[in-house]
Amino acid sequence: MQKKFIVNPWEVKGDVDYDKLVKEFGVQPLSEELIKKIERKAGEMHLYLRRGLFFSHRDFDVIMEDYEKGKEFVLYTGRGPSGKTHLGHLIPWIFTAYLQEAFGSKLYFQMTDDEKFLMRDVGLDEAVGYSHDNALDVIAAGVDPRKTVIFSDVEYMKTIYRIALQVAKRVTFSTAKAVFGFTNSSNIGIIFFPAVQASPAFMAQMLEKRDVNCLIPCAIDQDPYWRIARDIAPLIGMPKPAGIYSKFLPGLRGVGGKMSASEEQTAVYTTDPPALARKKVMGAFTGGRATVAEQKERGGNPEVCVVHQWLYYMFEDDDKKLRKFWDECKQGKILCGECKKYLADRVCRFLEEHQKRREKAKKEVEKVMIKD
Ligand code: TRP
Repeated sequence: MQKKFIVNPWEVKGDVDYDKLVKEFGVQPLSEELIKKIERKAGEMHLYLRRGLFFSHRDFDVIMEDYEKGKEFVLYTGRGPSGKTHLGHLIPWIFTAYLQEAFGSKLYFQMTDDEKFLMRDVGLDEAVGYSHDNALDVIAAGVDPRKTVIFSDVEYMKTIYRIALQVAKRVTFSTAKAVFGFTNSSNIGIIFFPAVQASPAFMAQMLEKRDVNCLIPCAIDQDPYWRIARDIAPLIGMPKPAGIYSKFLPGLRGVGGKMSASEEQTAVYTTDPPALARKKVMGAFTGGRATVAEQKERGGNPEVCVVHQWLYYMFEDDDKKLRKFWDECKQGKILCGECKKYLADRVCRFLEEHQKRREKAKKEVEKVMIKD
């Protein structure tokens, strides 16, 4: 039976069928050959590529071909700062930092505090505050502060506005409705907003007059914005932005949808004390049976296990170890407590390192953030 799922910029729900999404969105799967190209340049294969967490793209092949001919590209990504940062948010940023290091690209990082003010129950000052707070996590994710600018839309709007106007003039309400599902009860701020989110894709060219391409690493739910940006790019004499897209890290309480910041227990925040993160991981949804006896007899269900997914996508690089967890789970030789403890150790170690870098970032953040 086909289960229902929803993926759009404001909602990710249900068991996401990524193959179907590739078809519906009209994006390309990342080929072996393309992945190899990145690996050659970076000197190492990133876990997220190897395990297919980044799985699809638009025109990434074109970006690479141009790059090989000597045309550089800038990176653009962003965050809707509606609260604290959790581990799922970090994925595109860690990957962006990897690309930035491999290709030496400048990174434009947008904090859409305007969007979150318009769409969520968040005050304006509060959202801007989260922009500055979340920027610490962006820096801690490993981006190069000398080659990165981070901006809050609210604080940098004077500059963005001139680009957004160029975009907005070429997007009809009927297109915006079709792409984003706006209705008569949508507030008028959010109807203009897609032009704001498209703008940083053109910043290098418009503000610095650089003849470069733009690549956007992000989760697949942001693709609707880039469809619009790509459609209008030729109309304003700009190259079409390319994208490289990730899946979602599932929340701890079940595979399906994405980790949600509004459900505290399903997410591990970057600022969680390790002991709290451990507690959350120990409460994760697994593929275990109702009783120990049953699990030993019939084996578990790693296919639906969040712990396994977290290890697979983020926390266990070693294929052999991962395989062993899977096999032993199926054979009933290992119980969920053991897997959860293993993952919790990994998560805690990650958090400790991240939190150190986050602390250091406090000294740098105001230099990296630009305002006008
Ligand atoms: N709309 C995104 C969010 O809610 C934030 C965002 C802005 C973004 N620009 C982006 C995400 C570019 C990825 C890439 O999280």
